[in-house]
Amino acid sequence: MIIIKNSTIKDTNEIYELIKKNLIEINSIDYPQKVIEFMLGYYSKENIKKWISHRNYFLSAYDDSNNNVVGCISLEKDEILSLYVLPEYHGQNIGSLLLENLEEKCKLDCITPIMYASLTAVNFYKKHNYSVKEKDSHPDFGDAYLMTKKL
Ligand SMILES: CC(C)(COP(=O)(O)OP(=O)(O)OC[C@H]1O[C@@H](n2cnc3c(N)ncnc32)[C@H](O)[C@@H]1OP(=O)(O)O)[C@@H](O)C(=O)NCCC(=O)NCCS
Repeated sequence: MIIIKNSTIKDTNEIYELIKKNLIEINSIDYPQKVIEFMLGYYSKENIKKWISHRNYFLSAYDDSNNNVVGCISLEKDEILSLYVLPEYHGQNIGSLLLENLEEKCKLDCITPIMYASLTAVNFYKKHNYSVKEKDSHPDFGDAYLMTKKL
């Protein structure tokens, strides 16, 4: 069973590893090497530790059969950030669980969330009824779609 809880500092290494794995194995299909290298530096253990402590929400998905962290998501003000699921767990509804859990918190806080969806995840968000506001191109982060949804 998958359990969603607030991340703790102890999750840092596993979150770091699962994001790294996605960047190298999954996002690299859609993005140039230069962007992946920048992202690998951006998702450092130091930054992840800081975000777990300081972002409004930082949630982990735990596989309760082995207590491993298999996914994460976060919110900074109204922006959804860092949604990643361990590649071997893709397609098991964990990304949806994380997103729906965070949306419930946004609803309680009267927040209309936005996110810069990766090219890799834009269709996942469309399935969750997010709509594209504009296409964005950042010199370091590469192309993304600014998306939002009225909850
Ligand atoms: C995007 C991501 C978080 C989705 O997590 P997941 O647990 O695999 O997704 P789910 O199993 O909850 O999928 C829900 C639905 O979306 C679909 N879906 C999942 N990933 C998708 C993708 N990349 N593109 C299109 N559809 C996708 C699933 O097929 C499923 O459809 P169904 O309900 O018709 O069966 C995961 O694929 C991931 O970590 N991707 C790489 C990292 C990334 O780009 N993150 C986003 C940063 S903005």
